[in-house]
Amino acid sequence: MSEEFYNGFAEYYHFHLAAVGRDDVRFFTELCRSTGGKVLEVGCGTGRTLIPCAKAGADVTGLDLSGDMLSFCRKAVNQESRNVNSRVELVKADMTSFDLGRKFQLITTPFRSFQHLATVEEQLAALSCIRSHSASGGTFVLDIFDPDLEILTDTNRAQEFGEEPPFILRDGREVTVTYRNPLVNPVMQIVHCEMIFRVKHSDGRHERLVQKFTMRFTYRWEAEHLLHRAGFRVRSVLGGYNGEPVGSGELIFIAEAR
Ligand SMILES: C[S@@+](CC[C@H](N)C(=O)[O-])C[C@H]1O[C@@H](n2cnc3c(N)ncnc32)[C@H](O)[C@@H]1O
Repeated sequence: MSEEFYNGFAEYYHFHLAAVGRDDVRFFTELCRSTGGKVLEVGCGTGRTLIPCAKAGADVTGLDLSGDMLSFCRKAVNQESRNVNSRVELVKADMTSFDLGRKFQLITTPFRSFQHLATVEEQLAALSCIRSHSASGGTFVLDIFDPDLEILTDTNRAQEFGEEPPFILRDGREVTVTYRNPLVNPVMQIVHCEMIFRVKHSDGRHERLVQKFTMRFTYRWEAEHLLHRAGFRVRSVLGGYNGEPVGSGELIFIAEAR
């Protein structure tokens, strides 16, 4: 995984529709409340879910590989009260190899961070790190999407698709997001994606920025096997953040350290 991941894109990522419109924040804040104890958010990004969890009273450590995402998150945390600030710790690390030297009652991976790991070796390395940071009886929530076979086999997505309504940043920049999947590898279950930000600056200048990343599609039973191999017991699997059944689009595994 490149260190440059999401670097230069944090602000655009944070305000784009797919992030702003997600209905997962209540799910994660409730989880923090009901679990209690220290929380580790793996792939915390800009703090989209981390900050609401801290505001709900949780002591949260956010871990991410991207310096840009973390510095956006730090600035946002700094705008919160001293009380909230004191409950947040941010760490720059790779989820496949980290050692924080302590354990957490709840570990989460909101919004598919785990799917950026392209190989089974990387997935198992991350799960092994997560397992060794789980307190006895602690909860681990793996949040991925339910693979859509059509996307994994659709070569037409090499053209730009999915244009989102534009959003305007405080300094007047207007940003429009589209997507492109230049390459799909159904055997490896990997989609090479591009997130394209078209930026219109207030002086009329236009910019086209492209964030490249890979997403590994992991099926339900494959994920259950991975979790089992890594020392977790799956307590339940949800298809959405409001308790929907599997088949509703998301795959949310609530697991506990065995
Ligand atoms: C889709 S964003 C999700 C961010 C945040 N959890 C949210 O819900 O908005 C994925 C995040 O995972 C991080 N990430 C990707 N690979 C990583 C790795 N190997 N180790 C740590 N973080 C990683 C990225 O930098 C990015 O911030």
